Amino acid sequence: MKKLAAGNWKMNGSAAALSQVQALLAAHPAPSCEMLLCPPATLIAQMSAAARGSALKIGGQDCHAKPSGAHTGDLSASLLKDAGASHVILGHSERRADHLETDALVRAKAEAALATGLITIICVGETEAQRDAGQTLNIIGAQLTASLPDTATAATVVIAYEPVWAIGTGRTPTLGQIAEVHAFLRARLTERFPDAAQMRLLYGGSVKPSNAAEIFAVPHVDGALVGGASLLAADFGAIVTALGV
Ligand code: PGA
Repeated sequence: MKKLAAGNWKMNGSAAALSQVQALLAAHPAPSCEMLLCPPATLIAQMSAAARGSALKIGGQDCHAKPSGAHTGDLSASLLKDAGASHVILGHSERRADHLETDALVRAKAEAALATGLITIICVGETEAQRDAGQTLNIIGAQLTASLPDTATAATVVIAYEPVWAIGTGRTPTLGQIAEVHAFLRARLTERFPDAAQMRLLYGGSVKPSNAAEIFAVPHVDGALVGGASLLAADFGAIVTALGV
């Protein structure tokens, strides 16, 4: 299984930020893990052009569940693909919170993305209140069951464990907490998907150069979904290096 370093630029990055992509590619022409950047949709086409022929893949941060139609402001999976995306992030906690996305909607979007041929990164994670209440595994298990299409395979779906309280806060779970959730994810996936052993499980939430190596050493952590530290080539590159070791 090739590990995956995925960056989520969220609502950041203007055309000028494409210089970071050039710097990343110059420093990591042949990384030993897969590299993915998910910029705002406005940059997908330009970033795809900049990454053509390189090891860097480009993804969207969301898509609509319908293939086309009267949905002002939305983007279908096929529009993302047409712009050059090969991947899409779905069910990020910011979308679940800001746009009231349910597990059922995430699943419908994932079905649309898979039907279009996009590799789909599905995010799950507990809030701090849920963790404090001892609900972490229940919540994640329920999200996993309801957000994943039955057609998911290791080649087409990646799972990202992102504790909501660790996103953008600088706080991370203990290595033991990450290990517990990732082992649980693997076990749950194994009950449902024959190739679950090969399905990549990313950790996300305040991953940075200084903590990447220890997180990547945790069993069943097959990569990272990185927000803030993916915006600068030097930081993201250091995480790519840590993953390749
Ligand atoms: P962060 O974001 O790395 O800035 O905490 C992670 C994410 O939301 O994917």
